[in-house]
Amino acid sequence: MKPAPATFEVKSYGCQMNAYDGERMTELLEARGMVRVDADADLVVLNTCHIREKAAEKVYSEIGRLKRDDGSRPMIAVAGCVAQAEGVEIPRRARTVDIVVGPQAYHRLPALIERARAGDVAIDTDMPAEPKFAALPGRRRQGPSAFLTVQEGCDKFCTYCVVPYTRGAEVSRPWSAIVDEAWALVDAGARELVLLGQNVNAWTGEDGKGRAQGLDGLIRALDLLPALDRIRYTTSHPADMTEGLIRAHNEVGKLMPCLHLPVQSGSDRVLKAMNRSHDTNFYLRLIERVRSARSDIAISGDFIVGFPGESDEDFEATLKIVRAVNYALAYSFKYSPRPGTPAAMEEQVAPELMDERLQGLQALINEQQLAFNRATIGRRTEILLEREGKRPGQRVGKSPWLQSVHVETEAPIGELVEVELVAAGPNSLTGAACRSPDSICAVADLH
Ligand code: 5AD
Ligand code: SF4
Repeated sequence: MKPAPATFEVKSYGCQMNAYDGERMTELLEARGMVRVDADADLVVLNTCHIREKAAEKVYSEIGRLKRDDGSRPMIAVAGCVAQAEGVEIPRRARTVDIVVGPQAYHRLPALIERARAGDVAIDTDMPAEPKFAALPGRRRQGPSAFLTVQEGCDKFCTYCVVPYTRGAEVSRPWSAIVDEAWALVDAGARELVLLGQNVNAWTGEDGKGRAQGLDGLIRALDLLPALDRIRYTTSHPADMTEGLIRAHNEVGKLMPCLHLPVQSGSDRVLKAMNRSHDTNFYLRLIERVRSARSDIAISGDFIVGFPGESDEDFEATLKIVRAVNYALAYSFKYSPRPGTPAAMEEQVAPELMDERLQGLQALINEQQLAFNRATIGRRTEILLEREGKRPGQRVGKSPWLQSVHVETEAPIGELVEVELVAAGPNSLTGAACRSPDSICAVADLH
């Protein structure tokens, strides 16, 4: 029997849900008496991402580098979506791996550690019926903004995407479990909750009185938590954007004016080949409806360039929809063929063409991000302080529109402070705190 690991490190890659899962694994191991460290751990958990090839391949180079200070290797656990997708292949390719655990089975990590101590390669990629969340310890130690998974998995089967295979079918967590976790997070110091789901707006459930509710109902209930200031949710699918949720953006005070609503392409032909279940017209009308509910809402999106069969005209149509929507923020990716997905079997676009298109799209998106940030200069708003800045006396917080704002203030992390936005770059802004006597805000007050 190998010695029990006393210290551990969890390294999370990829999306916000992985970050959330990483926090839950940390709490689970700490509840077992293990100590979290930043280096030289006895157990390293790599919480991996499989969405694109580059992310998935990273795990193998990372495994190769894992050594303890005395030259020995730690116990290695591969968790997350690569674990789910590649399972038993992982220890075949990387012999130093001790544990492989999928995203629906990580509550069993302590038992897997015991099996690994006995010398087995412990593999668990089950999607058990028993709820993972119920088996995890309570929430602890929170920063000002906390993730809260409310929905997992996807039934949409876009033809490029591994998520329906790695995260499984769409499952909504029960109302009471979410509300309880929200209370625990707020008690532990969270001022903002970010509700997470691969298709978060497909969340459905029954409230405490047995009434059917959608995500908007859940948001309205969380709005009542006294010590909570802000609510966000991500990622939404256009097909699940209900009238109630759109209205909530007008009516719910704590719901922040942001919507991440990926369209992926501006070509109807490509959207069809992607199996996206909406066309560009539907998407643009939806954006209009959302904007008429909340005119200052920051719309963000995701795009894939070089999907198999994408022509120059298709790509032009993507630039056109980006111009039509005018995004506050957008992420763009080169198409990456994923094993087992239908689009991977189609004829691929040449890599040079993909590079060219990605550059063109990113240039346009950067312009829009900068324009969005500049347009907020002069506004007075509240920012939630999340961390120390690089310069002494400087703190960094988030605006309602999810912009990072640097400000000189003595207010503690976790506080909401009123600022005037005074300067903007493509990725962050500078604010002047309104309460300090020599601030622009204070000067403005005198006039
Ligand atoms: N190739 C490139 N990008 C992808 N995404 C999902 N699957 C792929 C893929 N095979 C992108 C989509 C999605 C985001 C999270 O990742 O834009 O919205
Ligand atoms: Fe993937 Fe499409 Fe589901 Fe999003 S909606 S997770 S892109 S299959």
